Amino acid sequence: MPERQPGSAPSVTVHLETPSIARVHDYYLGGTANWEVDRAFGDEVLDRFPLMRRIVFAHRLFLNRAVRHMVRQGIRQFLDVGSGVPNAGATHDVADELARETRRPPETRVVYVDNDPVAVAHTELLLDARGDRCRHAVVDADLRDPDALWQLAVETELLEPAEPVGLLLIGLLHLRQPDAEGQECVPAAVAKLRELLPMGSFVAISHVSDDGVPEDVGATLAGLKELLDRSGSGDVHWRSRCGIRSLLGDLRLVDPGWLPATEWRPEETGPSARTTSLPCEEIIWAGVGRKG
Ligand SMILES: C[S@@+](CC[C@H](N)C(=O)[O-])C[C@H]1O[C@@H](n2cnc3c(N)ncnc32)[C@H](O)[C@@H]1O
Repeated sequence: MPERQPGSAPSVTVHLETPSIARVHDYYLGGTANWEVDRAFGDEVLDRFPLMRRIVFAHRLFLNRAVRHMVRQGIRQFLDVGSGVPNAGATHDVADELARETRRPPETRVVYVDNDPVAVAHTELLLDARGDRCRHAVVDADLRDPDALWQLAVETELLEPAEPVGLLLIGLLHLRQPDAEGQECVPAAVAKLRELLPMGSFVAISHVSDDGVPEDVGATLAGLKELLDRSGSGDVHWRSRCGIRSLLGDLRLVDPGWLPATEWRPEETGPSARTTSLPCEEIIWAGVGRKG
């Protein structure tokens, strides 16, 4: 990996004593890439906020629909940033499931990206066991250094930089991303990735929001934020729905537009997708933008 330059993303190290968002997420999805510290914290969150597991499933469900839609639009390569551990229902599974359904050869390439070294190591094992190493790869890279991230993705030789890409930013951008000076850098990092994408690419975003939700749901999200912020696994930021939408910049919004995630093309849900329901649909906003 290229050396990080001053002013770019700070390095990430493995902390065995604090839960990791990637491994807690894996625990909620029924995976095995998690440790006692992650399960204990995951259970503490669920005891107080059972909603959390449903939020995780709702992001996966949106990913399922967005990937299927993009494949139908001709996308054959995905860059999944903040992918965590791509256990069942991950991007490569969804794309290959659609290929089988439509009797096409499985040809979609996927580059997973995460900055959690444990998630990356588990992804390697998982892709060895259940992926196709000619089409699926993972890189240890950081959203906060988008140029290096892009470079590493291209170096896998699975991401063809001149061919349209499906960029996935699912359940990632509400995690605060301080740069080396402590400044939030999500908008700038996403803008840089949009710039790097070739014409014809798509960007899918899903993001938790407390904007306009009923008072009791707002109180739940505030409690959840407090617990997550205290955990040491990274702070969260529930942006407003306009704040989230603005992350797509001037990309053209794909129909049906910018919506609560559960309302985005429900008819596209693949047969193996795990379904869920939320107490209030506006908790997760989602949309897909197209460049050009
Ligand atoms: C909540 S999980 C979402 C996992 C997956 N996208 C999904 O929806 O199932 C967020 C993931 O983003 C990763 N992540 C957080 N900050 C990151 C960064 N700056 N660069 C790359 N990955 C990051 C975490 O390690 C974690 O695996």
